[in-house]
Amino acid sequence: MGDARLLRCANEVNTFNTPELHALLADMHDTMQAMDGVGLAAPQIGVNQRVVIFGVQHNPRYPDAEPVPQTVLLNPVITPLSSDTEEDWEGCLSVPGMRGLVPRFKIIRYQGCDEYGALIDRTVSGFHARVVQHECDHLDGILYPMRIRDLRQFGFSDVLFPGQNVMDE
Ligand code: NI
Repeated sequence: MGDARLLRCANEVNTFNTPELHALLADMHDTMQAMDGVGLAAPQIGVNQRVVIFGVQHNPRYPDAEPVPQTVLLNPVITPLSSDTEEDWEGCLSVPGMRGLVPRFKIIRYQGCDEYGALIDRTVSGFHARVVQHECDHLDGILYPMRIRDLRQFGFSDVLFPGQNVMDE
């Protein structure tokens, strides 16, 4: 946070299944795994393209987090299917060591395509919907602290959740 490259609107991807795209995705997967994240957007590694990856297996350390399929999503479009929102805690690999309470739409449809250009069209809710909204915000230069309604609900992970492992997006 503080790097101007995180505040840009990213460019659409127009070519698929290229060596450059596969190399970018390999770099993103390595970064996400090394930092134990549940999602990553290309601008977080300085690449200004509309590319996000996300996914989490069921993990007993995080019993409340439903599994989210490992996904590569390009040029995403999000449509909220209800105006209902809910707040939950989020973290971000670009805002290390912090947590904030962030409102997100409960139910969304998201569309886009994978790295081969195959269409993706899913309707999801809860944690899955939250992760997608968080990652896609990165493509429009939005970091989760910008969405916190009450900055008293923003702080250091180890103070807010002592002794707990927490996930970053
Ligand atoms: Ni993030």
